[in-house]
Amino acid sequence: MRLGCRRTFESAVGTKGVSLTVSDSNRKRIVSGMRPTGSLHLGNYEGALKNWVKLQDSGEYDCFYFIADLHALTSDYADTSALRQNTIEMAADWLAAGLDPARSTLFIQSAVPQHSELHLILSAVTPLGWLERVPTYKEQRDNITEKDIGNYAFLGYPVLQAADIIMYKGDYVPVGKDQASHVELTREIVRRFNNFFGPVFPEPQALHTEVPVLPGTDGRKMSKSYGNAIYLADGDEVIREKARLMITDRTRIKRTDPGHPENCDVCRMHRFFLAAQAADKFDDDCRGARIGCVDRKRELANSIIERYGAIAERSRELRANPDRVVDALVQGSERARIEAEKTMAQVRKAIRIDWT
Ligand code: TRP
Repeated sequence: MRLGCRRTFESAVGTKGVSLTVSDSNRKRIVSGMRPTGSLHLGNYEGALKNWVKLQDSGEYDCFYFIADLHALTSDYADTSALRQNTIEMAADWLAAGLDPARSTLFIQSAVPQHSELHLILSAVTPLGWLERVPTYKEQRDNITEKDIGNYAFLGYPVLQAADIIMYKGDYVPVGKDQASHVELTREIVRRFNNFFGPVFPEPQALHTEVPVLPGTDGRKMSKSYGNAIYLADGDEVIREKARLMITDRTRIKRTDPGHPENCDVCRMHRFFLAAQAADKFDDDCRGARIGCVDRKRELANSIIERYGAIAERSRELRANPDRVVDALVQGSERARIEAEKTMAQVRKAIRIDWT
C-alpha cells in the first residue's frame, strides 16, 4: 500500500534521537544500485552519485539506493575478503556526498533476502536466449580473462538486477548508458511475468543523464582499473601529489616555451572543473608562457580541493567511525525489507506458491 503510507525512522548519521518522518505518498520510485567497488573516484561521483543526490534532494521521488553485493559475488566469488570493507567505504562516500538515510532508503542487497527469492522466480520465466544476447554479457565473456565467469550466476546477472528494480516497483532507474540493455531486459521480464501471472509489476524506465567524461591523471577516462583515479576521499596532499605527477605538454621543456594545452593532461582535466571562459583564459596563458606547468598543476589541485574538499572531509570522518555507516545501512535494510516483503507477498500469491 503506497498510498498515504507514513514511515518513521531515525537518522543514523544525524544526531541520535532525532526522528524524521518521511511520507512516500504517491511519489514515483527511483531504484538504483552500485556494486561495492570500495572508494568512489571523482568520475563515479560526477557520472552517477551526484545525480542520485539530486534526485533525492528534489523531493519528488521515493528513492531506493543499494549496494549490490550479490552482484559482486556473481563474478568475484573466489575471494570475498574485501567485500565488507568495500561496502563500508563506498557507503561512507554516499553519505558524505549527501545521500541521506532519513530521506532515501539506503541498503545492502544481501540484507534483503527477498532479492534472492525474486531472482529465482524471475529466472524461471527468463528464456536463456534473452540472457545470452545481452551485450554486456557477450562483451565480458569474450574479454574477461583474469577470472572465470563461466558460472551460472554470471549469466543471470541481469535477472538479479531485474529483481532489484521491480522489488520496489521502480518507475525510474538512474544508470549509465552501459546499463540500458539491463533495464530493457527488465521490462521484457516484467511483460512476460505479468502475462503469465497478472499485472503485478510496472515497467521501469531508465534515466540516463548526459555527463561529460572526466579524464583521469593519464588523460584516459578516469577508472579504478587504470590506476589514474582521484578519489572522493583523497586528502589535499594526496591530490596535490597526484597532480604533481601528471604529464603536461611534452614539447614544453622550459618555463619560457609556449605551451600546447590541447596536448596536456593537466589542462584537459582542469577544464572539467572550470567555466569555459576561465579555462580559455588559463589555456591562453599557457600558450603565451605566462603560466608554467607547475602553476597549472597547483591550480588544478586547488580546484579539485575546493570542489570536493567538504565531501572528502566528511567521508574520512565516516571512515573513522564505520559503526555509523553500518548503522545507517542496517536501518535502511530493515526498511527495504518491509517494502520488499509487501511485493513478495503479492508475487507468491500471483504464482500460487504461497504457504504463508
Ligand atoms: N549493474 C549495475 C552496475 O554495474 C549495478 C546494479 C545492480 C543496478 N542492480 C541494479 C543498477 C539495479 C540499477 C538498478 O552499475
